[in-house]
Amino acid sequence: MAYETVLTETHGPVRLIRLNRPEALNALSVQLIKDLNAALDEAEAAQEIRCIILTGSEKAFAAGADVKEMQSNTYLDGYLGDFVAQWERVTQMRKPVIAAVAGFALGGGSELAMMCDFILAADNAKFGQPEIKLGILPGAGGTQRLTHLVGKSKAMELCLTGRMMDAAEAERAGLVSRVIPAADLIPEAIKVAQAIAGMSLPAVMMAKECINRAYETTLSEGIRFERRVFYATFATPDQKEGMQAFVEKRPPAFKS
Ligand code: CAA
Repeated sequence: MAYETVLTETHGPVRLIRLNRPEALNALSVQLIKDLNAALDEAEAAQEIRCIILTGSEKAFAAGADVKEMQSNTYLDGYLGDFVAQWERVTQMRKPVIAAVAGFALGGGSELAMMCDFILAADNAKFGQPEIKLGILPGAGGTQRLTHLVGKSKAMELCLTGRMMDAAEAERAGLVSRVIPAADLIPEAIKVAQAIAGMSLPAVMMAKECINRAYETTLSEGIRFERRVFYATFATPDQKEGMQAFVEKRPPAFKS
């Protein structure tokens, strides 16, 4: 399907969703979030798609919420319209979603990247929560997810000063899983996504569910949850195939 502010490409079992508002550095307008959510719904429903990549341009993943669109908002616009709640669609995806970030990932842009399952960063990526410079604060999970990912000290400094962090610092801090030369970002992201797509989809989805549970619960509850899900993998044909292939020294051919 074609969208106004989002482009999509399919690479075998991988769907690449590209934010596309170059005139505004992919600022997250109402229309862009609507298009992004529809593209995510489509990828989640498509049986042949097993992994999703969310990216922007070489210059910007996304420079945050659209300041021009929201500058005249009132408290009641936010409260009654449940502003930003619609952005959470990506966190409800059951299939894996990789953020491939080049250029600016600021404010809501950084928050959107953090909602994905992991972040691959180009070496020109810049992350930050500059909301404080606008007289507001991060409103799409920045104070929470950034603190979980990089710890209190760095999250506090970034949110209180609005300073940007480059890709190397973001990797050291644990915000991104890996830094990749900018020209190789998309080919590498597709390679990683295809590798994930070649695994058992239920095992991938269950692993994702377990890791996300670590953010929601205590260690002992999380371990209990993981163990139940681990036992459940033995009810899948893919577990039989994976282990049989290992014993026979051949690559597995997962069916689900
Ligand atoms: N909203 C709307 N338009 C934006 C935008 C945004 N967040 N970010 C950039 N743009 C627009 C600019 O206004 C400009 O448009 P015009 O040519 O029509 O003036 C165009 O994109 C290009 O931007 P710049 O000329 O500013 O480009 P630059 O390379 O000089 O600077 C930048 C790049 C440092 C990212 C700068 O654009 C910037 O600081 N942007 C705003 C970043 C920001 O404050 N983000 C947080 C938004 S609030 C938020 O996200 C709330 C939340 O948590 C939910």
